[in-house]
This record gives sequence, C-alpha cells and structure tokens, in this order.
Amino acid sequence: MNNPTATTIDRTIPPGFGRTNQAKACHRAPTYLFFANAMTLISPNTHSPLARTGGLYPLLIHLALALVFMVVILSAYLRLAGSGLGCMDWPECYAVIKTKAGGSGSLAAMHLVPAWATVVHRLTASALGIAVIGITLMSIQRRKHPEQPVLLPIMILVLTILLSLLGYKTPSPLLPWVTLCNLAGGMAMLALLWWLRQRSASPVMVNKAHPRGLRLGALIGIVIIFIQISLGAWVSANFAATACTDIPGCGGEPWTAVSLRESFDLTRTLAVMPNGKVVTGTAEKVIHMFHRGGALVVLIYIVWLCWRAARGDRLMRRTAVTLFVLVLLQPLLGVTTIAMNLPIIAVTAHNAIAALLLLSAVNLFHHLAPTGK
Ligand code: HEM
Repeated sequence: MNNPTATTIDRTIPPGFGRTNQAKACHRAPTYLFFANAMTLISPNTHSPLARTGGLYPLLIHLALALVFMVVILSAYLRLAGSGLGCMDWPECYAVIKTKAGGSGSLAAMHLVPAWATVVHRLTASALGIAVIGITLMSIQRRKHPEQPVLLPIMILVLTILLSLLGYKTPSPLLPWVTLCNLAGGMAMLALLWWLRQRSASPVMVNKAHPRGLRLGALIGIVIIFIQISLGAWVSANFAATACTDIPGCGGEPWTAVSLRESFDLTRTLAVMPNGKVVTGTAEKVIHMFHRGGALVVLIYIVWLCWRAARGDRLMRRTAVTLFVLVLLQPLLGVTTIAMNLPIIAVTAHNAIAALLLLSAVNLFHHLAPTGK
C-alpha cells in the first residue's frame, strides 16, 4: 500500500465475490463482467474482487443494476414522450391529457409514445423484479456469512413491490405525487442496489488522512442530490418544464406565501381544460424556479465536497473528479435543454446524468464508511 496512513479493513468477502484461490483468478471473466468493468467509470476501484470472479449472487446484483438503470431511463422516456415533449405542434401539444369521466386520464393516448418502449419497459421491469427476489433469497440463504447484508436486499425488495403496485395502480397523471414517487423511488432503488454492490464487492479503504467530517459531508451530498432529483421530478409531474423559458429569470418573481404553499402541496390535483390541456400558472413557475435554485445549491456544495475529497488518496481523488465532472455537466444540460426548447433526448439524458450523479455521491460515501451488515 502506497499510503502509510491508509488501512484496508481486512474483511472476508461474501462467497461468490472474493478471489478464493489463484486458479479462480485464471478463469476467463464471464461476459456480464463487462458491465462490472464499465461501472468502474463511476467506481474507479482497482481493488474490486468482483471484477475478477464469478458466482450467481454477484451476477444477479450486476444484472439488477443494469435492469434498474434501464427501467429508470425508459420510464423517463415514456413519461416525457407521453407529456408531449418533441410533439408536432410544440408547445401547444405539450401537457395535453386525454381525460375520462371522473378525472382519470392517460398521457400516452394523446401522443405518439412508441409501442416498443412500452413493451421493453414492461419486460425489463418484470426481469428486474425476478432478479431482486433472487438477490433477497440468496442473501437470506447466505446470512451466516459475517459480511453478508440481509436487511438491505429486503429493503430493496420492499421498494420494488411498492413501485410495482404504484405502476400497476397509477390512478392518473393529474396526481403529481404519483410521478414524484415513481421517479424518486426508481432513483432510490438504483442507489440502494449500487450500495449493495459496493458493500459486497469492494474492500473499504479507511484512510486516516481523509479530512475530518468528510463522511458526514458525503452523506449530506447524497441527501441534497436526492432532494434536487425530487424537485426535478416535481417539475416533470406538474408539467412545469415550459413555465419558465427565460434564463436565468422567469419573467417577474412569482413568490407569495399562497403560491409557495400551492406549489409544494403534495395532495394537489392538476386541473385540465376541456381540450385536455393541463392548466398551468404561478405555481408551476415557482416549482420550476425552485429546481433551478436547488441546482445552484447542489453545484456549490458538491464542488466544495469534491475539493475536500480531492485532498485524500488516489482512489478518493478519482471519485471526486467523476463527481465534479457530473455536477458541472448536469446544470449545463438543464440550461441547454431549455435553450433548445426541451428536446426529448436531452431531457432523458438529464435524467440519466442525475442518476449517475447520485451513484457517484453514494460511491464517495462508500469509500469513507466502515463496512458492516
Ligand atoms: C444538479 C442539478 C440538477 C439535477 C440533479 C437535476 C435533475 C432533474 C431530474 C431528475 C429531472 C426529472 C426528469 C424527468 O422528467 O425524467 C429534472 C427535470 C428538469 N430539469 Fe433538472 N436537474 C438539475 C439542474 C437543472 C438546471 C440547472 C435546469 C435549468 C436551468 C434544469 C431544468 C430542468 C427542467 C426544465 C426539467 C423538466 C423536464 C421535464 O420533465 O419536462 N435542471 N431535473
């Protein structure tokens, strides 16, 4: 070890993750490990034994990670296409919902949502459910191993069940809390699976040279990124993307106590005009501007966090650089999407970068947190 102040917690890697003998190391890497290696872009951990070994348990974790990432992106694409981003008669065709009697309605019915995306989304989500059940059952089976997490896989399974129920029972796109829960729940599931992967696969370097309080700082970073993602979900759920087309302002400040309360009322139901167009007003401007303000907070905080983390060892520096690049890229993409009239590809990419940003912050925390069940 190059750094004399760094200590690797000498812990036993759960079966299937560790390199148990030399012969195992000589085996050809299975194809799915391509994904594991690609993930080192977010997790530049050269020590990961997972990158060298096989086994059904790590296979399932990597498979679930790939599937949940696909589900998050496909859900975003379906929702955005359904809401009318990129529609023929822009912006009149944006936020038009086909309503049935009783207030329920469909996003997709009014717009050209590709059938292939719906089918692939359903198949991927079902495969993800099966993979998560497999991970949970195997975790319970391997619970006697001292480093095997059990509670975490159970939490992921519970979240999967809740999200499937929400997806199945989705009452109406006129209830923004449903979209919020869908998007935030998907991101939380991605982060938890990534955490499970990291805790199961990587020996943790606890470096005594790390600046004090950095671990708490990384945890706060995860929380504020998650809040910012939820604010983005709220913009999407309230069809507030076109509420502010100026940059940086929004044509006069719409803040009043009433508009603030209305904007963040989780029980709000959107009103629609007879032609199906969602009614938007001051509340949507407030929602939109809060998301922009949140981006500024995230940017300042994460840049400061990266600067502190960069003073650690090589692994820490690499993690900090990835986080730094992503936190600069994301607001840039946000501004570009507005300047370019919200092209669907750019907004979907905005969602994907948000997911990678969250994973990157989880990764920083992982490198600072001692292991344990
Ligand atoms: C770190 C900063 C940011 C994060 C993590 C973030 C994250 C997100 C997320 C997760 C969504 C939901 C996308 C979806 O519907 O699938 C979203 C939506 C959006 N974001 Fe951001 N964002 C950030 C910064 C910005 C900035 C600086 C702007 C513009 C100045 C912006 C503009 C938007 C807009 C217009 C939408 C709504 C798109 C739509 O769904 O119709 N974002 N953001």
